[in-house]
Amino acid sequence: MDLYEYQAKDLFAKHGVPTQSGIVVTTAAAARDAAEKIGTTVVVKAQVKTGGRGKAGGVKLAETPAEAQEKAEAILGLDIKGHIVHQVLITEASDIVEEYYISFLLDRANRTYLAMASVEGGMDIEQLAVERPDALAKVAVDAIEGVTAAKAAEISDAAGFAPEIRDQIIDILQKLWVVFIKEDATLVEVNPLVKDPSGQVLALDGKVSLDDNADFRHPDHEALVDNSAVDPLELAAKEKGLNYVKLDGEVGIIGNGAGLVMSTLDVVAYAGEEFGGVTPANFLDIGGGASAQVMADGLEIILSDPSVKSVFVNVFGGITACDEVANGIVQAIALITEHGHAIDKPLVVRLDGNNADLGRKILTNANLSVVTLEDTMDGAARRAAQLAAK
Ligand SMILES: Nc1ncnc2c1ncn2[C@@H]1O[C@H](COP(=O)(O)OP(=O)(O)O)[C@@H](O)[C@H]1O
Ligand SMILES: [Mg+2]
Repeated sequence: MDLYEYQAKDLFAKHGVPTQSGIVVTTAAAARDAAEKIGTTVVVKAQVKTGGRGKAGGVKLAETPAEAQEKAEAILGLDIKGHIVHQVLITEASDIVEEYYISFLLDRANRTYLAMASVEGGMDIEQLAVERPDALAKVAVDAIEGVTAAKAAEISDAAGFAPEIRDQIIDILQKLWVVFIKEDATLVEVNPLVKDPSGQVLALDGKVSLDDNADFRHPDHEALVDNSAVDPLELAAKEKGLNYVKLDGEVGIIGNGAGLVMSTLDVVAYAGEEFGGVTPANFLDIGGGASAQVMADGLEIILSDPSVKSVFVNVFGGITACDEVANGIVQAIALITEHGHAIDKPLVVRLDGNNADLGRKILTNANLSVVTLEDTMDGAARRAAQLAAK
């Protein structure tokens, strides 16, 4: 789960990282009141879960409450990279002498954690990373040792922070690492971290992604969830315990096991090239023990996505044998029909593995007009892509 800037900064504050708080509002009038309360020049900041808000006009200075209202008026409703602004953060404006960059992330390719830091932070950090990679220090962080004072010094020196702020940077690095570990984050990024005229260093922006797999350890993270930005079908799937991800193609995909579903995505995208670039509409993993109910839930979700033109059910029978899955499909179709939804999209089914023959027989005997059986994964992918292209 990605957090909003204000939520990220709340976590920073909780772990002692210097930052400024602010007031989150949803109307221009409330922005005015908030600026009045803060009593200084403020910054009105769009709260959307994407970067580049500054460049998109989503971060504006306001010297008076009236100006804050005006700026909030302009920012609320703005579309920033497909994210509509529904709330703005009103926060004290800082005098900025320098802007820095610091982040911790999971470095999957190298099977470790990674710290990145630069004394040239700010809105052009992506460009900097591409054009002058040397200006962005990258230091691996061992998962067991973490960011000790020595490690923090190593990161600070690799980035070239000046001696007069080195101690502050070392302290902030260690505290941001605590945020990363204690909150089970996969990303903690501060851009910009700034130095003000008094020489104090503080975080003016924050980006945090939390690892949903660790939710059970963090009952307090529940309060950070904002479902208004989540795809409604993804939400419905989550409530039913299904792993569903919306993609932008036309073939609905159901499979048992993440590995099988991922390779199914590839095979469908490949087969789809022949039919004008048909691609998967989603990723739906019904997991190992796919009961009729689970299959019905999965099908119902996929079929209610209007961009789905055909569905590919790809099952490899293991502990749950193919005959059970086939019965599941038959019952799922009956259940969905009972719920009053007509199934008007073709289903291509490929069964392999444990009791595949029996499973196919069950589906053949059920004589369902919407179901097409295919023997191979490639054949089924091609058929599903072809049906979606029609
Ligand atoms: N509280 C603040 N006071 C002064 N300037 C700010 C403040 N917050 C942000 N800025 C300026 O706006 C720029 C963009 O804001 P930021 O929060 O980093 O949004 P984004 O990264 O989405 O563009 C920052 O690089 C900084 O120069
Ligand atoms: Mg930023």
